[in-house]
Amino acid sequence: MLNTDPHPDHHHAPGATHLSAGPERLPGICPATRHTLTDSLQRPLRDLRISVTDRCNFRCIYCMPKEVFGRDHHFLEREKLLTFEETARLARIFAALGVEKVRITGGEPLLRRELEDLIAMLAPIPRLDLTLTTNGSLLAEKAHALKEAGLRRVTVSLDSLDDEVFRAMNDVDFPVERVLAGIDAAARVGLTPIKINVVVKRGVNEHSILPMARYFRGTGQILRFIEYMDVGHSNGWRLNDVVSAAEIFATIHAELPIEPIDSNYRGEVARRWRYRDGGGEIGIIASVTQPFCRDCSRARLSADGQLFTCLFATNGHDLRSLLRGGASDDDITDAISGVWQSRGDRYSEIRSEETVTLPKIEMSYVGG
Ligand code: GTP
Ligand code: 5AD
Ligand code: SF4
Ligand code: SF4
Repeated sequence: MLNTDPHPDHHHAPGATHLSAGPERLPGICPATRHTLTDSLQRPLRDLRISVTDRCNFRCIYCMPKEVFGRDHHFLEREKLLTFEETARLARIFAALGVEKVRITGGEPLLRRELEDLIAMLAPIPRLDLTLTTNGSLLAEKAHALKEAGLRRVTVSLDSLDDEVFRAMNDVDFPVERVLAGIDAAARVGLTPIKINVVVKRGVNEHSILPMARYFRGTGQILRFIEYMDVGHSNGWRLNDVVSAAEIFATIHAELPIEPIDSNYRGEVARRWRYRDGGGEIGIIASVTQPFCRDCSRARLSADGQLFTCLFATNGHDLRSLLRGGASDDDITDAISGVWQSRGDRYSEIRSEETVTLPKIEMSYVGG
């Protein structure tokens, strides 16, 4: 359950750290050993999540509640956003440092105009699992262009098949049917395997768990139930609102028996289960009750070029200034290496009553 370690090591002040592109090179990082880059807890850098916008056309109650993200909310101005060229340059540098997966996120990434142009710039990076997380609202129109540009697969967020529940959760009255149309379009063009993310919030959509399991069973689409997290500080998170992985498991298992299967790779966030009757697999992401920081190999890049080493960080490292200040690829490589080498984040493992109230970045800003 909630870890109550009284000594959380997250005491950074909010705000960006300025990186120097100075002449001094970090020890131990030469091109031949780059792929062995590890942080202070010996975790490699394998996964980069790139947010391309902090805007979204949904106002999910657990992510961008209207009270906070209303008309007065200040979103990033256009000139602060990294250009596609800047983003692709950073992605290539991260790939050379050992990153094997790039996930495009937001906000809602498909709101970024001509996103397929960015995908086309990232697709040629060798051995890269290139994927995208979307709310699905624009997927029916975009799936074909994304596939053509070289995107491999997509993950779609969908919290209920009950239209009333879903409309209340996205809080913009968006119908289930249009997200399902987006999923179908993605399946048709081969953006597969498709994963469907469901955030479960107590009293809101726990009754949607079983209907969703029944619906997606046998489709080849992989449902993943996510424990509601205390990410950001606007969603008014309370532990009582979390439906635990154990409860999600029990709900499904009682009607549709499931058994565990091995992870696809070290550090995978979802625990995998398969239906005993061969109906396919599901995942459960238990970042509150069973944290997985120990193997966390994820870095996050915000749309304005700040590097974050944890979903719950308060402090970003300013890569955009390096990009726009004339830094060379080697300078940027050294800066990223330095940040990663000193990384010690393990927020979910040290979550406590105190850490819940720390000023944290919003998921819509840093990417889900
Ligand atoms: P695959 O590449 O398909 O294996 O995806 P993934 O397992 O990386 O999953 P995805 O990126 O879709 O993440 C699913 C959800 O897990 C996110 O939306 C978050 O809610 C949660 N999550 C992902 N990464 C982290 C993390 O580093 N820390 C925490 N606490 N939660 C995370
Ligand atoms: N807890 C858990 N998951 C969240 N997401 C957004 N906010 C939260 C939260 N508070 C998930 C969304 C989406 C991904 C981008 O992040 O459901 O799948
Ligand atoms: Fe938008 Fe995704 Fe956040 Fe919902 S969870 S508000 S769709 S960014
Ligand atoms: Fe990684 Fe931070 Fe999530 Fe832990 S809380 S898994 S360190 S992103």
